[in-house]
Amino acid sequence: MKLTILGGGGFRVPLVYGALLADRGEGRVTRVTLHDVDADRLDAVARVLAEQAAAHPDAPRVVVTRDLDEAVRGADFVFSAIRVGGLEGRAADERVALAEGVLGQETVGAGGIAYGLRTIPVAMDIARRVAGLAPDAWVINFTNPAGLVTEAMSRVLGDRVIGICDSPVGLGRRVARALGADPATAWIDYVGLNHLGWLRGLRVGGRDELPRLLADTDALGSFEEGRLFGPDWLRSLGAVPNEYLHYYYFNRETVRAYQEAKQTRGAFLRTQQAGFYEEMRRPGTPPLETWHRTLAEREATYMAANREAAGTGERDEDDLESGGYEKVALALMRAIARDEHTTLILNVRNQGTLAVLDAQAVIEVPCFVDVNGAHPVTVDPLPYHAAGLVASVKAVEREVLAAAESGSRASAVKAFALHPLVDSVSVARRLLEGYRAEHPGLAYLTRP
Ligand code: G6P
Ligand code: MN
Repeated sequence: MKLTILGGGGFRVPLVYGALLADRGEGRVTRVTLHDVDADRLDAVARVLAEQAAAHPDAPRVVVTRDLDEAVRGADFVFSAIRVGGLEGRAADERVALAEGVLGQETVGAGGIAYGLRTIPVAMDIARRVAGLAPDAWVINFTNPAGLVTEAMSRVLGDRVIGICDSPVGLGRRVARALGADPATAWIDYVGLNHLGWLRGLRVGGRDELPRLLADTDALGSFEEGRLFGPDWLRSLGAVPNEYLHYYYFNRETVRAYQEAKQTRGAFLRTQQAGFYEEMRRPGTPPLETWHRTLAEREATYMAANREAAGTGERDEDDLESGGYEKVALALMRAIARDEHTTLILNVRNQGTLAVLDAQAVIEVPCFVDVNGAHPVTVDPLPYHAAGLVASVKAVEREVLAAAESGSRASAVKAFALHPLVDSVSVARRLLEGYRAEHPGLAYLTRP
């Protein structure tokens, strides 16, 4: 089976390759094509992969290319994990927003809108090329803002594009562990948009164990989301929100923590990641060891500003393990390619699952997966406050899509202005001007 990874020079590619190496099943991936626009990054990642493969005689062959059409042609699966504008762009997304006193996180608030505006035209182009050159391929989208980008690509590819994120799996696993339940067999009742969802229950043998967790202050203090939101607020909600909802429920505190931080997340990663690729260019650098060290530092500092705002201190050893997005991607690919039935939380078209949204809206929901793709399961409705947030943010996403399609600045301003974390139309107008001055990728917004 042939897998193509777009953004193949990206830092997390060795995670995916490691998962492929562990797959012994029949019909496994035998060739991986890495595509990237940057030759140095491709070279660095290819060297990490070569060291990973050294101990495996039947490791998937790795091919690198900077030609997108060549990369896509004949692929069975395409992983899209690109970062338009790089980490420099992510740092600018944060900077411009913070200067206006609003949040500039890469997926939430003004930052997510700016990132979406410059990513969608590129993602749509990829979708069209896949449709033309590999019409039977499945696209697994990792590119953030993952829900929005998946919805954009689904306008070309329909249900052949599926978005993934590891935070719901990570949340489910942490909640299961706090309850002493087995994460592999517990049923996680989770729904929302990407980075905007709620775990409303965790069923073991048909019984919902979440009320037991909500009643137990010590158990709530034992995992990241429990500490971030605090027991009182979790009891008020009767659910455990995705960690990204910390930016909504504690918006002032997180904006302040970002403003007061020595560096924003994007600025930190820009330096840290540039250091990695620089080190990899030096002769004698041990690839895998250097990559592991950089990864450990990246994981340990994840959402540090939020923990600072919540006063929860360092990251816990147990929480350091990410949700394992490479495992989700591999499980999804196997389920489709080999009809290994499974249930995964994925970003797919709503098709009536949440009554508050239309059928085309991409949502994040447990899906039954088989050879025909991912099918959302029936879930209980969201309570009004959650349904309201989901509908507001989907309205913002639709304006971003409209702006990307038409090049209209008015649509882009409307996207910023309608976001629940942007508190004024004047701020929205200044945000768009600020972002246009920073990002060449927004030059297409030529219509008033
Ligand atoms: C989580 C999120 C991803 C994000 C990743 C890395 O897994 O769900 O969407 O890409 O963290 O975040 P970072 O701040 O390290 O880039
Ligand atoms: Mn994510």
